[in-house]
Parts: sequence; C-alpha cells; structure tokens
Amino acid sequence: MKNKPKFYITTPLYYPSGKWHLGHSYTTVCCDAIARYKRLTGYDVFYLTGTDEHGQKIEERAAAAGKTPKQFVDELVDNIKDLWKLLDIKYDKFIRTTDDYHVSSVQKIFTRLYEQGDIYKATYKGKYCTPCESFWTPSQLVDGKCPDCGRDVIDAEEESYFFRLSKYKEPLRKLLTETDFLEPRSRVNEMVNNFLEDLSDIAVSRTSVKWGIPVPFDPKHTIYVWIDALSNYITALGYNNGEENMKYWPADIHMVGKEIVRFHTIIWPAILMALGLEVPKKVYGHGWMLFGGDKMSKSKGNVADPFVLAERYGIDALRYFLLREIPFGSDGTYTDEAFLNRINADLVNDLGNLVKRTVSMANQYFGGKVDRPKDISGDHADMANALFGKVDKAINKFSCSEALEAIFEFVSASNKYIDSTAPWVLNKNGEKDKLQVVIYNLLEGIRIIAGCLLPFIPDGAQRIFRDLGLSAPDRLDGIKFGDTKRFEVGEGEVLYKRLDVKKELEELSKPSEEEHKEAKKEEEKVAEKEIKEISIDEFFQTQLKVAEVVACEKVEKADKLLKLTLKVGDETRTVVSGIAKSYTPEEMVGKQVVLVANLRPAKLRGIVSEGMVLCAVDGDKVVLVSPERKVDAGSEVC
Ligand code: ME8
Ligand code: MG
Repeated sequence: MKNKPKFYITTPLYYPSGKWHLGHSYTTVCCDAIARYKRLTGYDVFYLTGTDEHGQKIEERAAAAGKTPKQFVDELVDNIKDLWKLLDIKYDKFIRTTDDYHVSSVQKIFTRLYEQGDIYKATYKGKYCTPCESFWTPSQLVDGKCPDCGRDVIDAEEESYFFRLSKYKEPLRKLLTETDFLEPRSRVNEMVNNFLEDLSDIAVSRTSVKWGIPVPFDPKHTIYVWIDALSNYITALGYNNGEENMKYWPADIHMVGKEIVRFHTIIWPAILMALGLEVPKKVYGHGWMLFGGDKMSKSKGNVADPFVLAERYGIDALRYFLLREIPFGSDGTYTDEAFLNRINADLVNDLGNLVKRTVSMANQYFGGKVDRPKDISGDHADMANALFGKVDKAINKFSCSEALEAIFEFVSASNKYIDSTAPWVLNKNGEKDKLQVVIYNLLEGIRIIAGCLLPFIPDGAQRIFRDLGLSAPDRLDGIKFGDTKRFEVGEGEVLYKRLDVKKELEELSKPSEEEHKEAKKEEEKVAEKEIKEISIDEFFQTQLKVAEVVACEKVEKADKLLKLTLKVGDETRTVVSGIAKSYTPEEMVGKQVVLVANLRPAKLRGIVSEGMVLCAVDGDKVVLVSPERKVDAGSEVC
C-alpha cells in the first residue's frame, strides 16, 4: 500500500453567481470518472473541487438579491454540494475561497511575492467605465466603449500592485512549446501568439472591489480574484499551513474549460515559479457544451438544469450523456432530443438489452448457474481482453468519450454475437456444450464491460454486477476474461426504461415549478407596484432601444403570447410578448417597437426571452409603443 503512486486532479473553482448548469456538471463528472478510474487502477488519488467566491460580480449579484455576499454564496455552495451528491461525485476535498485557511495562505503568498520583488506597487493607467467601476485595456474596448455596458469610458489612474509576469516569459515559452504541459496541443499556438508575445506585468490588486481578500500590509487593496482562486490548488493541500497534503503536489492534471486556459497556463505557472514550486504536470483545456449554438452560460439564461435531468432520468443517464456526447477537446451540443435519443440508443437498447437477454438465457437454459467451459479461447474472449487496454489508453489521454466508445463497441459486438450464435437454435438442437460456451462468453464479456463502466456510470455498473451474481471489483487492472469459474445469476432486472421521446420533450419544455413560482412572484410585484421617485441615474439603468420585428409567430398552447424575432443594430433577439390578443403575427412583421434591452433573459414556455417590448395598456387594450417616425433599428431611446 505504501508505494501507491499519487494522482492529483482538480476542477476549476466555480463562481457561485447564479444557477448551476450542465457546463459545471460536465467538468466535474469528467474529473470524477478519471479519479475513479485511477483509484480502481491502484493510485492514491486526491480529487479537489470547490467554489471561487470573491470578486465584484458576486458582490453585485448578492446586492441585487438583497443579501450579504456571504449569505448569497453560502446558499449556492449548499446547492452545488447537493448537486455533486446527486451525481455521485466522490471528491476528496471541497475548497471555498472564503475558508479561513485559504485566506491566510493567500495573504502569505502575496506578502512573500512582494517581499522578494515579484510584486511591486505602481500606478495603473487605463480606460475606466465609471458606472461599471471597471478598468479596460484598449483591446478590450468595443468601438472605444465599455464592453460590458456600451457606455463611454474615461482615462483614469489607480494605484495597484503588479505581478512581474513579464519576467517569466522565457520559462513560460519553454513550458508551453517544449513540453506537453498544455493539451490539447492545438491550444498552444493561441496561447503563445495571443498572450505570450507581448506579455506585460499584471495588476493583482484592486481598491474598488471590497469583497475580496485584503492585501495584508495595505488593506485598502484586495487581492485580484484570479490570484486568490488559482492559489487554491496548493492552499487546499495545506500550503503555508501545515503542508499536510503537499505530497500530492504537483497536480497531475488541472481540468479546465478552454476559456480559462490562459490563466492556468500563463499566470498560474509563473506564480508557482516565483514561489519555487513545481508547475502542474498538465493543464487540459476541454471544449464547451453548447446549447443551441451558444456556450451555456449563467448570464445568458440558456441553461439546462442538471437537477431536473438527473432526478427525472437518473444519474447514469446524465453522467453517460455528459461523458459520451462531447468529443474530448472539442465542443458538443446539448439538446433535449439528443439527450433522450442517446439514452434510448445506448443505455436502453444496447447495454440494457444485452444484459437482460443474456441473464434470461442463463436462467432459461442453465437454471441460472453457468460453469466455465474447458475451452474459452476465441474472438469474443480476445475482444473482451483487449477492452481494458483501450479504456486505459483513452483515459490516459483524458478522453472519457473515447473510452465509452470502445466499451459500447464491444457491447454492440456482444449483441451481434448473440444473433450470430443463435443460442435458441443451439438449445433446440440439444447442443448443450456449445450453448454453455456461448452463454459463458456473454456473461464473462458483460463482467468486463461492467468493470470498465464502473468509473463512468458506477450505479449501473454495480447493478450489472448484482445481476451477474458477483460483487464489483476493487481493482480493474489485471481484469482478465475467463477468471470467473461459475456464474450464479440473478433475475435480470430492467436496467433502463425506454423513454418516450415525444412525451418527454413535451415534459421538458414545460416551465418548471420554480419558473412558475418566479413568474407568479413577478406578477405580484407588478400588481403591488408602488410608484416611487427615482433619480435620472436609476432611470438610465434601463436600456431602451428601437427594434424592428423581422419575424413573428404564435407560441404554441399559449393564447396570449407571440414570439418576436427582433433586429437591434447588428444583433438578433428573441422576445416573447403577451400581445397575441391585440396583434396577429402577420401584422407585427416590419413594425418598429421599443425594447427594454438589458432585461435579464427569462424562459417563457421553454423559449428564452431576451428583453421586453413596451406597450400602453388601457384596460383590455394593449397597444405597442413605436417611434413616431422610422429610425435605424438599434437606436437608443432616451
Ligand atoms: O471561470 N461547457 O468559474 P466559472 C463546458 N471561477 N464547461 C463549462 C461550461 C460549458 N458550457 N460552462 C462552465 C471560473 N463550464 C473561475 C475559475 S479556477 C481557479 C477559477 C465549466 O463558474 C468549465 O470547466 O465561470 C469552465 O472552465 C468552468 O466551468 C468555469 O466556471
Ligand atoms: Mg466563466
């Protein structure tokens, strides 16, 4: 036991700033499968995940929700822990950047870097957006304006601490180009060309952000969230604080989405170099789960709910889909339909049927007891024996989709083996010996399949072992076809129920209970709306724009709603509006309307509505507000 090799794997620390969605589940489930695989092949694994809780965004969200930042994040942290429990995620530690030990360790890191000259104080000069309280570099501006709110920016200066990132340019170049530190390798060029070439020092403190870790020797500054967050990978191991688990360092793999590869492959290794620590062995930048062509994102409201999917279809279904559907390294798309079809095709038809048919035949022809025949060599045995090697190879490339592909190829081959050997014919002809070879081969193949599935869908794999009358193994390496002397199979339960895709699609597009409640709350708010005075600044927080209706249709089964497609400048928006009693879809096309453009998107009848159209309401009459003369779609209303 002493000599177990170690394996340290991490997910990003997620921002608790809104609803948890399938994208977070994707990285976490991948890491969980890899961690489980490593445990099953003899590694001493440390699997770390957690939450990144500081920063301006969270401060703002909390304020909007009428909560303190800590109250706000506490609830979301409880919620994500529930999600990981639901998805059977076996992490070894959950770190929160608000944990005391993390805070004090980050402060020590900052002080040390300052004392040794890697952090220095200077004046930050840049473009500043006053309402957003944000500095932007010239390249971040959009048409010279704030990329967040589109307003004018001013030249401003702020005192700030800087990290001497430029000093590490050459070691970073070596790391990126001469080692396989970053994978997939296709991301290396982007890092080198876009970021490394003109690498400058970065500001690592803010005086404008209150919700953060104070710089210990200058507490009007807080430490930049990324320095705070990245440090978690060592503070979680006890760095600066007893070092209890530093034996796991360096990390074997930081699994991250491609949008944060830059932080992990440029800033993070430079900090580690400055601290005299080894850099991680690998950063893997995986692709995105897209949702109707867009990255799933909390700010866009296009999020499939992992709680709903796991509760309705089971954890195997969700884990399997996440691990299988996104070819590792590239992007994949989530649609309810793809999800449901994938489950039916692979889990119900292929895997479920193979197990059910085989166990039934074992019961029918051998009373459930099948002994190992004398000669077990042959193609089926060879294929089964090759499977573990394929899975091992795929996992060592961190490709869960490839591993599952290999497993399901063998599942298909096993179903074909049933058809080509036709056990029912062998039985009818009284060829008992041949029949025993076939049924044993099938059962033994299923045992190997179930073993290989343990890291990915642990629940289903365990149930298959139960069907086979065996207990699941503690180790997968060394799994060999023919090791089972005798099977005493169970009844053969139905592993996965067939889904009625049409019916389920309808169910999934219904608004959830939560959405219902939210809509109700909104209604009540409107009803008891009291008119209070607001300042001009408050008024200008509402962005009003002229939009042109380019398409319009009725929303199915909703007699008040129309779905509008609006042109707003270069942008196209979808808005659901309750005007169907006053306007037909045909008469809407071509009209100019006034759009509340910065309204948080909301889902109505399964459609994400990105704004609201202004109307005058006179009793039952609803009349659209339009500019008095035609103007360019996208013009501001103020
Ligand atoms: O970036 N597809 O947190 P975050 C695939 N706190 N993966 C997705 C995804 C999608 N559509 N959406 C999110 C942060 N993810 C920082 C990280 S690390 C020290 C600090 C996953 O809440 C993916 O792993 O925005 C991505 O990198 C991460 O969630 C971003 O989570
Ligand atoms: Mg993000």
